Amino acid sequence: MENGALTLNIKTTISQNLDSYVQNLKSFLAIPSISADQKFKTDVAKCSEQVKKMLLEIGIPKVAIHQTKGHPIVFGELVISDNLPTTLVYGHYDVQPPDPIELWESGPFEPVIKKTAIHPEGAIFARGAADDKGQIFAQMKAIELAIKNNSLKTNLKIIYEGEEEIGSEHLEDFCIEHKEMLKCDQILVSDTSILSNSQPTLNTGLRGLSYLEVEVTGPNKDLHSGVYGGTVANPAVILTKILAKMFDENNKITIPEFYDDVQKISEQEMEVFSKLPFDQEKYCQDLEVNSLFGEQEFHPLARCSIRPSLDVNGIISGYTGEGAKTVLPSKASCKISARLVPNQDPNKISKVIEKFIIKNCPDSVKVKVKPHHGGYPYVWPITDPSYVKAEQAMAKAYGINPLPLRGGGSIPILPMFEKTLNAKSILLGFGLDSDQIHSPNEHFGLGNLKKAIEAIYYFITD
Ligand code: BES
Ligand code: MN
Ligand code: MN
Repeated sequence: MENGALTLNIKTTISQNLDSYVQNLKSFLAIPSISADQKFKTDVAKCSEQVKKMLLEIGIPKVAIHQTKGHPIVFGELVISDNLPTTLVYGHYDVQPPDPIELWESGPFEPVIKKTAIHPEGAIFARGAADDKGQIFAQMKAIELAIKNNSLKTNLKIIYEGEEEIGSEHLEDFCIEHKEMLKCDQILVSDTSILSNSQPTLNTGLRGLSYLEVEVTGPNKDLHSGVYGGTVANPAVILTKILAKMFDENNKITIPEFYDDVQKISEQEMEVFSKLPFDQEKYCQDLEVNSLFGEQEFHPLARCSIRPSLDVNGIISGYTGEGAKTVLPSKASCKISARLVPNQDPNKISKVIEKFIIKNCPDSVKVKVKPHHGGYPYVWPITDPSYVKAEQAMAKAYGINPLPLRGGGSIPILPMFEKTLNAKSILLGFGLDSDQIHSPNEHFGLGNLKKAIEAIYYFITD
């Protein structure tokens, strides 16, 4: 009875405060904290100041900005009792570049509310709305309510970084250096998505990542394609031939050793996928594709979660301006990423991809492969005691039990946290895959924002 009243009270409080929350979130989203672009370095710094201010305002007594060789890390702490466990709350305030900017219907840093079919209550449109400013905002509001209600059941350490979208380069060293300061029992992460608003899910893991850049060089200058075409190897042709060789006719990746360490999936685990609500036709329709790609023997949701994948992220060569220019380019380059699953090792996978490219490159061109920083896959098993707590918090907010489902994206710092801090990350995220994160017109549903605040509130107060 009493519990029911309190639940109602939290829902009402969140609804009543929604307008002021939205105003607040809008000013947070208006700061272009693009970590990848040096031109925005001062905006990223300004955003870290804003995060600090917000943490102080919600009642975190101790907040500091730690400078790094890259972008700042904001750290706050609230100890209520030595007898309570400590939760490290993690998220990122940096965002992806908004490009291609011309495809945005409103400015990426001019947040507006618009209704959509999936978000009839309205959604806030801006870069970072769902990934991840909107979600760390929800964490902060949940914490604020818990502090105000005197109902926190955990000590809090809060770490918000400004480099997640560029591989958390400096957080790793920071973590090793400040191991004692970051000591915790569990980590709360709100930076993932749910399957749908009618069927919430908890991400029981995330994929790892290997990332490489390839540069193929042919002749020492761009040539006339009539004068030289047919005698000199064209780097764009060679590069795309190598890329095409990476898949067979069944869409299996042909790179030797690529699948060697992939964990086998039990029949039981496979069955779970067919029970999840998934409408393939609608999925195709939304993306305007006629059919899907990938390993046909696996369910589409399995193919983007518990199976590895390989993609070309960008490719450049020759003349791409207006009209026609008959040129045989001197260079062609591309960026490749592989999403990894347990027990694939990003370093090993980068090596086998590199080996494949070099082996398949003819003598007529030169090739350079540059591996980037990658990340290990992360697993949060449903047998972890914190899973049950997260499940209950979600169930209370949504009125329906969440289902476990691994996520396809990557947060490379989580396996690193596990190794150095010996703590599991709880993936309590609230975006939808259709929220267009990293794409133009990114948005976060106001309904999702409310549920996020509510579920996180239950998680830290129960
Ligand atoms: N929040 C995402 C990861 C994510 C998205 C997980 C959706 C689950 C569902 C994160 O900000 C991200 O984009 N990570 C990068 C990692 C990279 C920059 C090292 C990714 O997955 O590409
Ligand atoms: Mn994110
Ligand atoms: Mn992201």
